Amino acid sequence: MSRGISIAVVGSGYVGLVATACFAEIGHRVICVDNDEAKLKTLAEGGVPIHEDYLPELLDRHRGHSVEFTSDLKAATQAAQAIFIAVGTPQSRTGNADLSYVDAVASEIARSIDEYKVIVEKSTVPVYTNEWIRRVIERNGVPRELFDIASNPEFLREGTAVVDFLHADRVVLGADTERAGDLLKRIYTPLTSGAYYRSANMVPGPRGEEDPPPVLLTSTKAAEIIKHASNAFLATKISFINVVANICEEAGADVEQVARGIGMDSRIGPKFLRAGVGYGGSCFPKDVAAFRHVAEQMGIDFTLLKEVAKINDEQKRRFFQKVRSALWTLRGKKIGVLGLAFKGGTDDIRESPALDIVRQMLHEGSIVSAYDPAATERAREVIPSGPQLRYVDDPYAAAQDAEALVILNEWQEFAELDLKRLHYTLRYPIIIDGRNLYDPAVMLEHGFTYLSVGRPGLSHTRDAAVGQRLP
Ligand code: UDX
Repeated sequence: MSRGISIAVVGSGYVGLVATACFAEIGHRVICVDNDEAKLKTLAEGGVPIHEDYLPELLDRHRGHSVEFTSDLKAATQAAQAIFIAVGTPQSRTGNADLSYVDAVASEIARSIDEYKVIVEKSTVPVYTNEWIRRVIERNGVPRELFDIASNPEFLREGTAVVDFLHADRVVLGADTERAGDLLKRIYTPLTSGAYYRSANMVPGPRGEEDPPPVLLTSTKAAEIIKHASNAFLATKISFINVVANICEEAGADVEQVARGIGMDSRIGPKFLRAGVGYGGSCFPKDVAAFRHVAEQMGIDFTLLKEVAKINDEQKRRFFQKVRSALWTLRGKKIGVLGLAFKGGTDDIRESPALDIVRQMLHEGSIVSAYDPAATERAREVIPSGPQLRYVDDPYAAAQDAEALVILNEWQEFAELDLKRLHYTLRYPIIIDGRNLYDPAVMLEHGFTYLSVGRPGLSHTRDAAVGQRLP
């Protein structure tokens, strides 16, 4: 492996923490900076504030040797050759990205620069942010030759972020000078040369020595746009399949068959064509809005993205309507809910469609028992338990005496339920599955009324399809 490089990562959120652990894993010395002292204490003592596969193991492996946590940005800047900014870029009220954290960090970095540094945008930021950071640093009196701004977007999915980092589809390095580009290339050499995949205790994943991730060198602006455009495109793909699902549902076709048929075209590809209750999370909703805002500011009409977001909202509404029509009225009805996080495999509830749907159920007077393998504590903070809402510890407790069971995210555990047990646990054997985790024919065999997304509903009480409409 190449000799380690000194790196500072500013921000210990999902992106910052994963980058910290993974940079150390590929041989670099990393100082992770945050201004949240309580979080730093947790991290220094071995705690990991987020649920992410392999992250605890990697932090344990490198903490105290090549990973350090601090609130001292000045010292971290001075010690580092490259400073990765991984602070939040939340959505402001107007839809554009709020860059005030990036601005504050850039000013502080500027005040600490004493020799050449590469400042790398890791957070998702609108195009031109690199120029703003450059201006902020220059305004603080730093000569142009003492720094470069670069962009190294991440494409990490929560839950599989460590594997996505170490076995990336591609490594995008956006730099406008050779010096900055070279440093970034050296940082990623252990991955892009394949050397990492020779180490005995590497994190397993799809890449190997013979098949390392390719590098794409671009301008800084192109890298900024690649990140926004990738997320906007993926969100578009999901909204597209969700509308196709609705067409399938009305026509009595199965969207899973249709998605397979579309995805077998190599120009389209099979991924991100899973119909469901709509996308959520900390990236897609925010980035779709921010990218549209970027276009708008340039006088470019990107109405397509407005539609993508609208379809996503409509998908949640439509699913909720499905729950309502299965139960007729919701007031006083006992509903079991599986899934609170915005998707399976994470404890993140930001922009979770599941929480929107639970809120709506509560609003209409239902009594909800909810279970999620990892997100219960976070959900409790935003929707406290009470007479109408109970958080429970396993899926069968959620189903206990419920008049329907509603599946809202795709944890593997939810796809492997003991159907016999579920059937006698529920008061009425009705399952409304927002993630298409089961084969409708199997559910019918087990005596369930089973409603899912983009597939004809099946009821054990009559052979006719539920909700199927003939022209
Ligand atoms: C996403 C991007 O995938 C990642 O590259 C970027 O860095 C951050 O944003 P993440 O938010 O972790 O990652 O979740 P992802 O797995 O992409 O799913 C986003 C949402 O889309 C989830 O709510 C998920 O349930 C939904 N989804 C995804 C679908 O509804 N259907 C699909 O086929 C795929």
